[in-house]
Amino acid sequence: MQFIKNKISSYIRFLADNQQVFLSLLLILLVPGILVFNTVFVVKSMDDNMNYELRLKAEMAGSIVARYSSDLLGDPTQLQAKIKLTVDESLHSSTRKVTIMVPEGENFQVLASSDQSEISQIRPQLQYTVAWHQHATIAQLVQTVQNHQTERLWQVVTPIATPTGSKLGLVEILVSTADMDARTQTVLVNSVLVLVASIGLVLLLIANNARLFQYALLFHKLQEVDKMKDNFISIASHELKTPVTAAKGFLSLVEQEKQVLPAEIQSDINKANMSLERLSDLVNDLLNVSRIEQKRLAIDPVPTDIRTVVGEVFEDLSGSAQKKGLTIEYHPFTGELPPVLIDPAKFRQIMVNLLTNAIKYTISGKVEVNIIFEDLGKVAVSVKDTGIGMSAGDMEKLFTQFYRVRNRKARDIVGTGLGLWITKQLTEMMDGKILVESIEDVGSRFTVVFSVIPTKKK
Ligand SMILES: Nc1ncnc2c1ncn2[C@@H]1O[C@H](COP(=O)(O)OP(=O)(O)OP(=O)(O)O)[C@@H](O)[C@H]1O
Ligand SMILES: [Mg+2]
Repeated sequence: MQFIKNKISSYIRFLADNQQVFLSLLLILLVPGILVFNTVFVVKSMDDNMNYELRLKAEMAGSIVARYSSDLLGDPTQLQAKIKLTVDESLHSSTRKVTIMVPEGENFQVLASSDQSEISQIRPQLQYTVAWHQHATIAQLVQTVQNHQTERLWQVVTPIATPTGSKLGLVEILVSTADMDARTQTVLVNSVLVLVASIGLVLLLIANNARLFQYALLFHKLQEVDKMKDNFISIASHELKTPVTAAKGFLSLVEQEKQVLPAEIQSDINKANMSLERLSDLVNDLLNVSRIEQKRLAIDPVPTDIRTVVGEVFEDLSGSAQKKGLTIEYHPFTGELPPVLIDPAKFRQIMVNLLTNAIKYTISGKVEVNIIFEDLGKVAVSVKDTGIGMSAGDMEKLFTQFYRVRNRKARDIVGTGLGLWITKQLTEMMDGKILVESIEDVGSRFTVVFSVIPTKKK
């Protein structure tokens, strides 16, 4: 018992965790459900319509018989002959019986009938009394059982009256629904056949697409793994930040006393410093990745002259380019440049990433930073190098997380493959665009484009 309970609750938990599977199951049940509902509804309304039509026909037949009977009540023999003729030639192929009655005390006596054995019988029936007193046609569905066969009949009772309206007697007509029932039956059988075929088709389709379920589950699992990865990055980067900052602090204390230490220790301190810088960059990148992914990175846009930020970054990094023996140039737009609505700190990070890459992936030659403004409402900052470049295939994947080009030249250059992903995210968060052009062994050009704040024309 406990086992079954556990099983059921594990299924419920599974469905709650995998809502797309739950929805698909619901659809699977819903489609045949709708088909069944549709069939039942169509057959039922068809049956209702036919039934209503039959009733109208029976009522019409009743009133025709009532009309000719009013003149013949005084001549039962002729009336009998006429009724027989009516049923034989049949006003309606399903007419079972026509009876003419006249009042006899509280009840009614049969004056003429298509079933001759009933002549002179006294008929006490509520609906005769009602039709008589209300002077109205009464119709109701009744059932008869003959030879174990049930038959449904419309029993219509219509008063016979003189043209001036005085009541003389009643006509009773019984019309069988057998023909109609047979037709409904045929439609029902056909509909059920179509229904079974449709449900079969739906089931076949589902069986055929069972793999879709697997994909849905797999996709859900991937999402979970992705979330776990995000959490891991978030926790790891936060946990790493404190010890890295502490180590940097201690190392800077040692650096202050560096000159009194032997040369080889000084070189070790330099190496430790560089490694710590790399570790610190990595921790910062990871922190940024987790903030961006969890949408926790706040952008604080202010009108900014991008030349100032680009100039500062250029100043900071040109030393490392020169140390590598590279020529580094900065060509800012010299005319009047409207400000751009961006977060200067985030834009600075974009520029640091692009310029660091240009220096890092250029072995010899030149790195050039250009600011172009052609007064089309957009300003473009490009970082161009004569570096190792990359293939078209690499360019496509360049902006994905942890993607690094794996060729002979790029292999020995260290990095994590997060810089450009962060750069693209930051650019797009500030409504900018990033473009890349590159030719292997020739060089690359990365361009970020932002809209300037429109200036009012005087
Ligand atoms: N200017 C460039 N010239 C040639 N290849 C480049 C250039 N910029 C980026 N790449 C290629 O794109 C890859 C991804 O760059 P990205 O800046 O994202 O990562 P990274 O530089 O490897 O590491 P980090 O996260 O430290 O920046 C690099 O590994 C490099 O192969
Ligand atoms: Mg990089």
